[in-house]
Amino acid sequence: MLKVAHPFDALMDITARPQTVFVRGEGSWLWDDTGKRYLDFIQGWAVTCLGHAPAVVADAIAAQAKLLITPSPAYYNDTSLKLAKALVGNSCFDQVFFANSGAEANEGAIKLARKYGKLHKGGAFEIVTFEGGFHGRTLATMSASGKKAFEPLFEPKVPGFKKAKLNDLASVKALINDNTVAVMLEPIQGEAGVWPASDQFLQELRALTQEHGLLLIFDEIQTGVGRTGKLFHYEHAGITPDIMTLGKGIGGGVPLAALLATERAACFEHGDQGGTFNGNPLMCAAGIAVMAEVAKPDFLKAAAETGLFLESELQKLSARHGLGEVRGRGLLLALDLKLPIGASIVAQAFDNGLLLNSPQPDALRFMPALNVTREEIAEMIDGLDTILTKVGAARRVA
Ligand SMILES: Cc1ncc(COP(=O)(O)O)c(C=O)c1O
Repeated sequence: MLKVAHPFDALMDITARPQTVFVRGEGSWLWDDTGKRYLDFIQGWAVTCLGHAPAVVADAIAAQAKLLITPSPAYYNDTSLKLAKALVGNSCFDQVFFANSGAEANEGAIKLARKYGKLHKGGAFEIVTFEGGFHGRTLATMSASGKKAFEPLFEPKVPGFKKAKLNDLASVKALINDNTVAVMLEPIQGEAGVWPASDQFLQELRALTQEHGLLLIFDEIQTGVGRTGKLFHYEHAGITPDIMTLGKGIGGGVPLAALLATERAACFEHGDQGGTFNGNPLMCAAGIAVMAEVAKPDFLKAAAETGLFLESELQKLSARHGLGEVRGRGLLLALDLKLPIGASIVAQAFDNGLLLNSPQPDALRFMPALNVTREEIAEMIDGLDTILTKVGAARRVA
């Protein structure tokens, strides 16, 4: 029998968490159950793109909850039709399948590519993915990921994924054979520590995949919905992928994800894909509210400018403390710490009421709300400056 000795014990212990319980959020701020306030530069891992509890999302969910929560995806509902139209109208894609998590959207992208291979490429099923890539935690998406820590887990892996090196076209070419159907990548590898694919590499990849009749799949679960200063990252490179997945930001905090495809790639037949909660109106209402804000040219322009401001403030901070490069785009940035001190900085920042993320021991990642203010950025920089000064002093003492 499970004995619940502490309130935390009733939850499966799947990750190390601070013994803090959050109860409220507003914009860039979170409050715990003791009333302590935290400045949040993680935002649910680039999820709450309009900040915590934005009125437009809260109102949309509340209104939708009173109208219709779900009639089942066996029937059309007006809310999912409206969101699909908004996504198709603002992108290069023709059709959408809604999912409930990024991993599920990517699982759908993998299935769609395999279906395409069966229909159009003599049963080809292999997908070239990338070392360091992260696509989710289902068995297939873990297999598609190039995260070292996943390698020994849950063997045997799903076959059919070959790993190339980011920004190395020759490594992709070397993996293409008659069984290859697609190339799949994050345009910026987020979990690996914010490593961008160059625009030139993305353009070359598009040309290569076209030459071999392969599908190009962009996992924009972290980079999509304004995160990098354009609505979708592929716009930076001036190319159009065949398939794109969205998650995180699209729901503004609720579990909503999407698989988008061009008409040519959207080849599912009845029975291939589905799910009880897919395209449910409650989540789609949040998605419509998010798209109505984020797709506004002024909003995107402001987010891009804020990204440049954060980047330059981080560069100044780096210069002051003798740290490394600032990389990434828009409001998905990383600071190279040059030393494995990320976890210690994150822990000190948490104690001081500042939420930061260290995706790799020697890097900090910044993914604030897209509407974060310059004052909030200045406050975060001050907080980090104080910690870095202390860490520097400690390093000198050691
Ligand atoms: C690029 C990318 N793909 C897929 C996922 C998986 O999304 P989810 O955690 O919603 O399943 C993530 C989550 O961090 C991600 O960053």
